[in-house]
Amino acid sequence: MSKNLPKTYTIKNYGCQMNVYDGERMAELFDAQGMTPADDKNDADIVVLNTCHIREKAAEKVYSEIGRLGKTSRNPGGPMIAVAGCVAQAEGSEISRRAPTVDIVVGPQAYHNLPQMIADVADGKRAVDLDLPGLDKFSQLPQKRKTGASAFLTVQEGCDKFCTYCVVPYTRGAEVSRSWNALIDEAKALIDGGAKEITLLGQNVNAWTGEDDTGRAQGLDGLIRALDRLNGLNRIRYMTSHPNDMTEGLIAAHGDVESLMPFLHLPVQSGSDRILKAMNRSHSRDSYLKILDRARTVRPDIALSGDFIVGFPGESDADFADTLSLVRAVGYAQAFSFKYSPRPGTPAADMDAQISTDIMDDRLQQLQSQLVADQSAFNSKSLGQTCEVLLERPGKFGNQLIGKSPWMQSVHVLAPDLTIGDIVEVEITDSGPLSLKGEPTMRAAA
Ligand code: 5AD
Ligand code: SF4
Repeated sequence: MSKNLPKTYTIKNYGCQMNVYDGERMAELFDAQGMTPADDKNDADIVVLNTCHIREKAAEKVYSEIGRLGKTSRNPGGPMIAVAGCVAQAEGSEISRRAPTVDIVVGPQAYHNLPQMIADVADGKRAVDLDLPGLDKFSQLPQKRKTGASAFLTVQEGCDKFCTYCVVPYTRGAEVSRSWNALIDEAKALIDGGAKEITLLGQNVNAWTGEDDTGRAQGLDGLIRALDRLNGLNRIRYMTSHPNDMTEGLIAAHGDVESLMPFLHLPVQSGSDRILKAMNRSHSRDSYLKILDRARTVRPDIALSGDFIVGFPGESDADFADTLSLVRAVGYAQAFSFKYSPRPGTPAADMDAQISTDIMDDRLQQLQSQLVADQSAFNSKSLGQTCEVLLERPGKFGNQLIGKSPWMQSVHVLAPDLTIGDIVEVEITDSGPLSLKGEPTMRAAA
């Protein structure tokens, strides 16, 4: 059935920050076509579900959302439905079979083709585009300008590491870096638009490589140093990194680049060498800990963060005890931890000795109580201290704004006369496991 060309849109993001960034780029693409965001999210002409396939739960959410939308899309005035992102890439035209109300299936490397696909659907066709070209979809999109005080900038996509549990190398394709000039231009546009902080994103962000404007080979540290020299940018962050791409240059940057925030998200997944090997992580417990030591040497206050998987096939009590002991040794400021989820097509899904849900639940609970205790301890060290906070969004109460400390802690600031985008010096008056509270002392950097 043909449909009218949509005038209003809603984009729903699932999963990682890279999807948030992609969602912003799609919005700007739609804006450039003369479309506008729907006032009422439930009443858009086109709904884009920008999906995540990393764990089964994340993927299944999409089908329940399609079911919900599908009820309205069967009537001719209902929304066009587009499934974008990693579920689209992984499940492809299977989605249209399982959910016939879906009009468009577009993979994460193909969404610059959305206007044509929308036109095809309006002509009565179903549109599927799952090409994984070597980039650069970004060069075919309108320049990114929309930004808050804290902006995302995707510098690299894809992954060549092939950890045995992970779908990313299949859904996002091989590692590809965006060009130096495109990134510097986009960063300048974001700063002009009011960004005070830029977080560089990539599935393997520290594998970014490129050539600067003089033709010299550069790694992520070179890019960070160039961004540091741009006027008006106060804070730089990057995520997510792989231990094997933590170069000496990048570690050194933490010691001497003032705008590079003292925070490092470096997933380890397990503390057991046997499991790390089965995961094909290609680093050991010890090599990982040595990287953290070096980072702490150049930046003693650096806050550390990680990702963990419990219940990988074959994980014994002793292996899990190794993970707990690594966590205790590091003292993370925050962390993400997950139960292993077998993903179709990955080597680990076919391994023997899959772990029972009961054991996984128990291990996750033990790990998380250790991580929460460590995060609380880290936060409570801030009590009575002052630090700079970049105010990013309104809080629940009228006189409150929420921002981030340099160490990535959320800080609720009583700030009746301050505005979003301000960087203020705050005295921390209260601390909990997930956030801090504080009051401004004096205005700091603008
Ligand atoms: N099961 C559970 N967690 C996973 N992750 C990636 N793949 C899986 C999986 N199959 C986790 C890893 C990764 C984070 C983004 O998601 O910890 O670092
Ligand atoms: Fe997945 Fe491993 Fe690549 Fe991270 S490094 S995206 S976990 S394959």
